[in-house]
Amino acid sequence: MQVPFVDLSAIHKPLEKALKDLFSTVLEESYFVHGKQVSTFENAFAKAHHITHCQSTGNCTDALYIVLKALGIGPGDEILVPAMTWITDAETVSLLGAEPIFVDVDEFGLLNANLLEEKISPKTKAIIPVHLYGRMANMETVMQIAQRHDLKVIEDCAQSVFASHNGKLAGTFGHAAVYSFYPTKNLGALGDAGAILTNDKVLFEACRKLANHGALDKHNHEFPGTNSRMDTLQAAVLLLKLPYVQQWNEERLALAKNYDKAFASIKEIGIPECTDGHVFHVYAIQTKKRNELKSHLKSKGVQTQIHYPQALPFTKAYAYQNATPADFPRAYKLQQQGLSLPLFPGMTQEQQAYVIECVEEFYKC
Ligand SMILES: Cc1ncc(COP(=O)(O)O)c(C=O)c1O
Repeated sequence: MQVPFVDLSAIHKPLEKALKDLFSTVLEESYFVHGKQVSTFENAFAKAHHITHCQSTGNCTDALYIVLKALGIGPGDEILVPAMTWITDAETVSLLGAEPIFVDVDEFGLLNANLLEEKISPKTKAIIPVHLYGRMANMETVMQIAQRHDLKVIEDCAQSVFASHNGKLAGTFGHAAVYSFYPTKNLGALGDAGAILTNDKVLFEACRKLANHGALDKHNHEFPGTNSRMDTLQAAVLLLKLPYVQQWNEERLALAKNYDKAFASIKEIGIPECTDGHVFHVYAIQTKKRNELKSHLKSKGVQTQIHYPQALPFTKAYAYQNATPADFPRAYKLQQQGLSLPLFPGMTQEQQAYVIECVEEFYKC
């Protein structure tokens, strides 16, 4: 049997007719950019989070760059970023001439809030907690520290749409939140797309202008901006999919619980352990024999991925910071031992049973 890491057709098959109707509508209307679906999606996405403002963008990387720029981040500033995350969280900081200061993660790969204060300096301006793998970072502690030191908090919710902690949604704790709708995300477009959520009207308007050539109205350029737009087709697709996300997230959680149960007795595997509000963008286990298990699963037709093969301080991009594994032991352990198994809405019982069987087989040898 072949089990893909993600099978987007399993999500799209039941929506095929609705998607084709939507393509026809967008084609007929021919407002491919700035179509009415864009503001309808922005309003719906903000409302679903009980947040006042949403600015759609071309992708999440743009969204984060734009928020940081709107907050006035620039040369001389330091931003606290988890050591294990996608490069967006550091590269946007660097592109603005500021410095990402890496903070080690906890056993689940989330920003370790207990390590934040030792990294704060007079230059620190903001914290970027990332709700990695669909699990929420410890936002209560992050917000307390941010308040104590007068820092901005931008939540990276790229992997965690509708994740929650004690019933409070990801993206509703900080000053702003950024989202990715990359096709494999829990809410995925059919191409690139992203968004910013914030309750801060001034920040929102600055982001809206930055994403749109420095203008709120056509030809009224107040300052140099950029072009980062969600196109009409992606907005229409996201509007169609939005009502399904909770149900897909529940499906992800149920699949994760099956894995947790199956692997609980394999002591060589560290499992992510389901918590309330975890939306399992990926199911990331940890094992010392990671590379061997990955090869074994590949030989059995099971695709896996590593999130991520290099923690950010150990990438070539940040080698100049001269970090050693001892500086970021948890992030280093994850890069050596982390392995993400297939998990996606529409994954069949047979597919999951096969993955479990292949993993069990490996540990019996
Ligand atoms: C945690 C995280 N942040 C940011 C991004 C960047 O998203 P995008 O590809 O939409 O720019 C991703 C995408 O993989 C991500 O996983």
